[in-house]
Amino acid sequence: MAKQPTVLICGGSGLIGTRLQEILRSKGYRVTLLSRSKTQGSDRFYWDPAQGFLNIDALNANHIVNLAGAGVADKKWSAKRKAEIIDSRVDSADILYKKLTEQKSYPQSYISASAIGYYGDRGDEMLTEDARRGDGFLAETTERWERAADQFQKLKIRTVKLRIGVVLAQSGGALEKLSMPVRWMAGAPLGSGKQYMSWIHIEDMCRMIVAAIENKKWTGVVNGVAPEPVTNREMTERIAKMLDKPLILPNVPEFALRLAMGEMADIVLESTRVSCEKAQNDYGFKFSYGDLDSALRDLLRDKNEDGGESANDGAS
Ligand SMILES: NC(=O)c1ccc[n+]([C@@H]2O[C@H](COP(=O)([O-])OP(=O)(O)OC[C@H]3O[C@@H](n4cnc5c(N)ncnc54)[C@H](OP(=O)(O)O)[C@@H]3O)[C@@H](O)[C@H]2O)c1
Repeated sequence: MAKQPTVLICGGSGLIGTRLQEILRSKGYRVTLLSRSKTQGSDRFYWDPAQGFLNIDALNANHIVNLAGAGVADKKWSAKRKAEIIDSRVDSADILYKKLTEQKSYPQSYISASAIGYYGDRGDEMLTEDARRGDGFLAETTERWERAADQFQKLKIRTVKLRIGVVLAQSGGALEKLSMPVRWMAGAPLGSGKQYMSWIHIEDMCRMIVAAIENKKWTGVVNGVAPEPVTNREMTERIAKMLDKPLILPNVPEFALRLAMGEMADIVLESTRVSCEKAQNDYGFKFSYGDLDSALRDLLRDKNEDGGESANDGAS
């Protein structure tokens, strides 16, 4: 194995993986990728989890971070799409596990993405990692995803399943979708607006993955959320305040969201208030962006500088 520790990121070309690559390289890791894209290189390997294909050279890594999965919010949830969402996550873990069992050396850790969708629609209940599984498609998907990740423990590989919340980033992801209508004075809370959104700044999400790689205490399920979950109304209002835009429209009714998005509206309508206590108290993780205003100021401010939008410090 190479002297420079190698982290293999599966599905590393997306929102989280792109930033994670930069952070890991800046910390001195060699980063390799497993991708369905056929462009290959010394650090980029091809796989096709659906077809059970994986270039085994990719497995020469000290740590594996598996972020792969068909986008949950990319297309309406037809039966075919639902199968794709589940299979892409389970198949990717299965093929990695199968090929690793054929190897002589294993990585030290397997860090799998999971999601707070595991908990389902839970009102204002504060959800720790021990909370029961919720109902619905997202909950079922995450249960199967986590079960697929559990296989790696049979090889005595330290396994961490990060139940990731709504990742806020400068471009791409949920914040862009939430802030765009606000910029165009068409922002409004969704449904009742009372549903909790457990968010995390992309930097903290990536730093959490690095902590899971580096700190051997990290094991099992860990919630990947910031300490301050807020309701959808509060999130919308704070974005508007930060962008110095008024919110003039009434809430978007639930039936309209269901009409437009079908079952996929669960993503924005389910209330999930998730605790970060395990990461923070048990493992000593320190958030760089623990409160929403600091996260929004950081992420919307740069956009402001680039795009000439107005933003304030949220103090007025
Ligand atoms: N972003 C969030 O707010 C959030 C919240 C909760 C959970 N998560 C989970 O965290 C993981 C990473 O999130 P992300 O936002 O970085 O996701 P992303 O931007 O959608 O990237 C996921 C990557 O998965 C690979 N992929 C896509 N479809 C696939 C398929 N059918 N089979 C195998 N691989 C496929 C793609 O890589 P290639 O094209 O290179 O193969 C893609 O770059 C995902 O599993 C996501 O569900 C994200």
